Amino acid sequence: MATIFFEPSTRTRLSFESAMHRLGGSVISVSDPKSTSFAKGESIADMARIISSYADIIVLRHPWEGAAQLMADYATVPVINAGDGGHQHPTQTLCDLYTLKKERGELKGMTIALWGDLKYGRTTHSLIFALAKFGATILFCPSPGLEVPDNIMHKLVTEYGGELEKFSKSHKQNQKGAFPVDAAYITPEQPHQLTMMPGIDLEVTMKAGVDALYVTRPQRERFTSEEKAADLQFPIVDQKLMSGKELQRALVMHPLPRVDELAYDMDADPRSMYFKQAARGVPVRMALIALALGVKKNTKPDEAPVTKVDYPVYNREYGVKCSNPRCVTWQETEKNYLKPQFKIVSLKPLTFRCIYCEHGTEPKYVASTEWHQGTTGEKRYNRANSHLAKKIRPENLIAFDSAEEAEKHGYLPGHYAQSQAVEEKPKNE
Ligand code: NCD
Repeated sequence: MATIFFEPSTRTRLSFESAMHRLGGSVISVSDPKSTSFAKGESIADMARIISSYADIIVLRHPWEGAAQLMADYATVPVINAGDGGHQHPTQTLCDLYTLKKERGELKGMTIALWGDLKYGRTTHSLIFALAKFGATILFCPSPGLEVPDNIMHKLVTEYGGELEKFSKSHKQNQKGAFPVDAAYITPEQPHQLTMMPGIDLEVTMKAGVDALYVTRPQRERFTSEEKAADLQFPIVDQKLMSGKELQRALVMHPLPRVDELAYDMDADPRSMYFKQAARGVPVRMALIALALGVKKNTKPDEAPVTKVDYPVYNREYGVKCSNPRCVTWQETEKNYLKPQFKIVSLKPLTFRCIYCEHGTEPKYVASTEWHQGTTGEKRYNRANSHLAKKIRPENLIAFDSAEEAEKHGYLPGHYAQSQAVEEKPKNE
């Protein structure tokens, strides 16, 4: 196994390595990007090809969002994502799910509250989808300003079938309980009257008690300069908070490391699970490695996905760029060979999802490979929100971020290329 860690790690790398040793395998490892050709500007694609010839499995932690997907595209051996920037951390989620199941039995019907930095906390991004898949109710309690990114919420509501209820500021102030809830995702498995009585489900849920409070640290290393300068508040989870009625039975979970969002006075409390979560990283990762290498067979029948959405794909030589500057597609070393690749997740407004970092992007201009289904003689571009744009079939769509870019590729402005304010519909149309 090659463990390639280009971001700091204690638990993840050591538990992966320990898991491989315990399975009887061996490990080669890089934990300092400066000591590899990454520092010389080598691309992830080339690194993937090379490491594939030295190891049977690769475990990658990388600061760029989508890096693991990119490495998997070019590697000829399995690649495990051990954290890619603020995007995902799926193996931590396996440890979290294993802990919940071991301690409480059934994930279905559980209520889990997510606490802290839900914007950059990649462990929660992976956990959200897993909890939804297994039918848990999720309460979102972000530190103000660090709410779950829109692309994650969009994916949750469109692909996992439950309902999301967002609470207004005044509603939050009225919430009786130890902590205010920003939003709740109610699983479709749970009987509720969400649309009829907003807020009522939350009260019922809180009365029943929270099964686990999942705490995350502020991911300061990912903050923008504005976020660093702002006086963001990080409420502390301690005995006082945990004495709240709705938290009486709640497990306290944390992927660790903690900074100051989780008090040491919780450590001896039987509800605290964080050291167990970390310890379980070894057996969980042993199982994963064994499965990925094919030395163990999955004896459980494959369950059908919760909702299988087959989005049309945008895959062209040129066009729109991912809107997320932390995405792997933005990086100098990767730009030369990567083409725009997105899933078209919505037509109104036209929204693309990057296949690497999964961020949403709304292209500004579009054209058609069929020059508007044969209705115009020339290559024309129009605004993505114009009525003409909506006539283009997804498989014919060409999308641009700017008029300049469209013109660079030989497209002329169509009737609906100018801004909506000055748009005038030609009479003969
Ligand atoms: C987490 C990570 O790296 O995302 N740590 C871990 O792997 N257990 C959480 C964190 O750094 O806050």
